[in-house]
Amino acid sequence: MDVKTYLTRIGYSGPAEPTLDVLRSVHLHHQLSVPFENLTVHSGGRVQLDLRLFYEKIVIQRRGGFCYETNGLFSWMLRKLGFQVTLLSGQVKCLKTGFYWPPFDHLILLVTLDGKRWLCDGGFGSQGYSSPLSLDTSDPQKQGHKMYRIREEEGMHFVEWQQEEIREPDGDWETIYKFTLKPRCLEDFAEMCEYHQSSPCSILFCKSLCTVLKPGGRLTFIGHRLTSTTFPTETHGIKTSTREVKDEEIPQVLAEGFGIVLKSPLIPKDERMTPLTEMY
Ligand SMILES: CC(C)(COP(=O)(O)OP(=O)(O)OC[C@H]1O[C@@H](n2cnc3c(N)ncnc32)[C@H](O)[C@@H]1OP(=O)(O)O)[C@@H](O)C(=O)NCCC(=O)NCCS
Repeated sequence: MDVKTYLTRIGYSGPAEPTLDVLRSVHLHHQLSVPFENLTVHSGGRVQLDLRLFYEKIVIQRRGGFCYETNGLFSWMLRKLGFQVTLLSGQVKCLKTGFYWPPFDHLILLVTLDGKRWLCDGGFGSQGYSSPLSLDTSDPQKQGHKMYRIREEEGMHFVEWQQEEIREPDGDWETIYKFTLKPRCLEDFAEMCEYHQSSPCSILFCKSLCTVLKPGGRLTFIGHRLTSTTFPTETHGIKTSTREVKDEEIPQVLAEGFGIVLKSPLIPKDERMTPLTEMY
């Protein structure tokens, strides 16, 4: 496993040292280069928690992955650059029921640098933040057209955002996920990694998906639907266009849109998730 090869994979050629500028830059480069995707699960494969497998998939095969893979490998790279990194367990909020998925649902990273704490997440998907969020303030943190904040309540932290179209000083904040600061290790996420590949309550089991940040927008492929999003600017609002992709077009869409070539054919899936019935 070679850090320089990883940095080349994400198109980063700047200094390789533990500074805030570098952290911000590699975070953004990672998101622009490594899709959030679960195509292994929907093409006859299985995801296992093993850094070498993450490296082989993301760096050598130029694939993406879901949070355990992408943030797992991102944490390895940050440590190699000299950053102090702690793995944290996050729980995504179900937008339909308001319930949270169980602990270890989502892997996120705490980076401590010059006494300041930064939350990093290169493996979320469309609501994700492109730059690390400061954990030392509850104030809103603007990122391009998006606004985030981290709210703390009795030891639990909540990453919240304002949808791009309704951003106002007192607009509604929507929770994306919650987390604690308890340090974790990769193996702690093994049970939830299995859950996400087998539970009808998991979005990753119910839907084949691949999404990547693009300069000025995002490209998302769920089931047979390919959606291109252009972020709002001063002159226009958010724009989206969606089209249905035929089975025979899938390899070309994956290659041209995401730089992904699968070893086995994708079996597209887009089923409704079974609602969670337990509170976590
Ligand atoms: C899946 C994803 C790419 C969809 O992005 P999008 O372009 O905004 O698409 P939509 O908002 O139409 O969502 C697509 C479907 O996912 C569902 N969904 C996405 N996030 C959800 C959430 N937090 N809770 C419940 N449903 C969710 C939507 O309800 C919708 O389901 P339906 O078509 O069966 O009604 C994006 O929501 C995403 O990245 N989610 C995954 C985030 C995640 O859990 N990451 C961490 C796990 S490792």
